[in-house]
Amino acid sequence: MRVLGIETSCDETGAAIYDSERGLLAHTLYSQVEMQAEYGGVVPELAARDHVRKTIPLIEEVLKQSNMTLGDLDGVAYTAGPGLAGALMVGATIGRSLGFALSIPALGVHHMEGHLLAPMLEEAPPAFPFVALLVSGGHTQLIKVAGMGDYQILGDTLDDAVGEAFDKTARLMGLGYPGGAALSLLAERGNPERFDFPRPMTDRPGLDFSFSGLKTFALNTATKFGLDEQTKADIACAFQTAVVETLLIKCRRALRLTGWKRLVVAGGVGANRLLRQRLQEMTADEGGSVFFPRHEFCTDNGAMIAYVGCQRLMMGEKNDLEIKVYPRWPIENLTKIL
Ligand code: KG4
Ligand code: ZN
Repeated sequence: MRVLGIETSCDETGAAIYDSERGLLAHTLYSQVEMQAEYGGVVPELAARDHVRKTIPLIEEVLKQSNMTLGDLDGVAYTAGPGLAGALMVGATIGRSLGFALSIPALGVHHMEGHLLAPMLEEAPPAFPFVALLVSGGHTQLIKVAGMGDYQILGDTLDDAVGEAFDKTARLMGLGYPGGAALSLLAERGNPERFDFPRPMTDRPGLDFSFSGLKTFALNTATKFGLDEQTKADIACAFQTAVVETLLIKCRRALRLTGWKRLVVAGGVGANRLLRQRLQEMTADEGGSVFFPRHEFCTDNGAMIAYVGCQRLMMGEKNDLEIKVYPRWPIENLTKIL
């Protein structure tokens, strides 16, 4: 089955074609980051309008890359949530209408399930069951993944998502938006001995997170010590170390709680070098292993949507003709894929 995947949930337009026999055939991405950076964040209306301009050209591009025409498609999958309503509406409208015009099934896919299953696109995909750490600009969750579509949230953030905390701290350092990757680069020049930031909520049982205090800690440190280049790097370093160690402590706890040995990390913050390295060490230490998507599939992309869509469409799932999006959509409400 050959499935076109369309991603338009936030500020990236993605398109991809996944073939159930041959794997990923093509994928392409357009990022609005430069446009949105001018405003210091995502302006929903601008995001939606830009998806309107970009989605169809990107679909044409992946068809061309895979030497296919629209008539070769067997199904269409689009991100139906969670995300920005107007932005989601663009991909959903285009995807659903394409399915209608081509008389093939169309299906709205859960964006976070896409992130969660993105490591399945790699050469050595994880086997089920596993614990997943979802770390993006909007989510920080530990999820017990018993099988495809069978998700139970073990821990969640009580305030900011990790990516959001990275972005807010990066903004404090004048690093632009979204600043997570830039902050992590700056951290490499920092002196790890200078500041010691707290590891929030690690001194009590449970798997929930809280990151807003770290951002405030960074602000207070900046107010006290100023923001010269070295101090900025030192704050970035202390912030990143605290975030990574906090995530590591909770991941270790989740592995011990479930008794499972495999950890999957997904979402934009999964691109973080220190996080990848430290989780590799931790899981090896626990006698387990960690799986990451390749860098470009950590952040938003169409490939993960095409992949999930294909699995579900093959099960016979499809949407009726009404075009629906779900800006808030709990991942635990999804159905199992057998
Ligand atoms: O998954 P994603 O592309 O979009 C959402 O669905 O949110 O994640 C984007 C988030 C942003 O907050 C960005 O700053 C962060 O991931 N991010 C990073 C790194 N690369 C991206 N955070 C820390 N270190 C990185 N290397
Ligand atoms: Zn995402």
